Amino acid sequence: MSDLRAVIAGIGSYLPERIMLNAEMATIVDTSDEWIVERSGIRQRHIAAEGEYTSDLAIHASQNALDHAGMSIDEIDMIIVATTTPDETMPSTAVKVQAALGMVRGAAFDIQAACSGFVYGLSICDSFIKSGQANTILLVGAETLTRVVDWKDRATCVLFGDGAGAVVVQGRTDADDRGIVATELRSDGRQHDILYANGGPSTTGTAGAIQMKGKEVFRQAVTNLSGVIVDVLKKTDYEQADIDLLIPHQANKRIIDSVAKKMGMRGDQVLVTIADHGNTSAASVPLAMDQAVRDGRIKEGDILLLEAMGAGLTWGACVLKW
Ligand code: ACO
Repeated sequence: MSDLRAVIAGIGSYLPERIMLNAEMATIVDTSDEWIVERSGIRQRHIAAEGEYTSDLAIHASQNALDHAGMSIDEIDMIIVATTTPDETMPSTAVKVQAALGMVRGAAFDIQAACSGFVYGLSICDSFIKSGQANTILLVGAETLTRVVDWKDRATCVLFGDGAGAVVVQGRTDADDRGIVATELRSDGRQHDILYANGGPSTTGTAGAIQMKGKEVFRQAVTNLSGVIVDVLKKTDYEQADIDLLIPHQANKRIIDSVAKKMGMRGDQVLVTIADHGNTSAASVPLAMDQAVRDGRIKEGDILLLEAMGAGLTWGACVLKW
């Protein structure tokens, strides 16, 4: 019998119906399709409908992941939702997902690591599974970020979108060497002021809106993400050349390109889906990965490297064999 491995048994995603093209954005703030595409790579974003909440997006993505895994909710021991935009201050969005999916056992909770939430979640799943506390975990990244942007600030509102992605992570001893190989997490709370929301339950009693020093975030992202890729690979027997697909957090195409260039990776080794949905924070990595699974770019046995950075600052990476 081989070692216990945390394997991705299924994946799904969901984007709200309403699409806002850059041209429509230009009717709200002083911007242009040309500027947004050139500086970020974004062509459109999806916007949750009135009355459609983060939990609703998470439920759709979760159901799609369960269907892809061929599993029912009865097989899930734990639900973890990574989100910066929960439905309510309390309880967690995860317990709303739990109730909606009809799960009446186990545990459900949220984690908050901003855009790095999904990568943090994979590390938590790996640890819970390897310590025997859970065997089959539904991990969701879900956001309604368009609810926490300042729609008068053209430097931020053009970048973000709503969406959700989910995976079923299962402990298996017959997986050969498939599954999560290594994860690496980092944070630096001193960088708070370059990316934060100017509100919260304990400070203003409101959710606040995203404040960002774009150039500084850009600079930190390239340095930190390149560093964490090197560090996570050191924990494995793989080298950069072995990576079949880099699945970066979809924050800005220029950040993705800069990190890939610094790492010496070819264009075909890097997954870019940002044009279709903008920055969906904790949802962006599973959203991109789901797209690549469904269009056949990810095949069984592929070595994937996932990375993300977000407010905190937080950042992290995960190597997994699909
Ligand atoms: N449309 C038109 N002009 C704009 C817009 C806009 N939407 N936004 C800013 N500008 C203007 C600025 O006012 C400035 O004008 P000025 O030269 O007259 O002062 C000019 O464009 C250049 O602005 P910069 O901020 O210098 O533009 P930059 O090339 O740095 O691009 C951007 C800005 C896209 C925000 C970039 O810095 C960036 O992507 N940073 C990373 C931030 C990020 O990805 N955050 C996501 C959250 S964190 C994460 O997920 C990693």
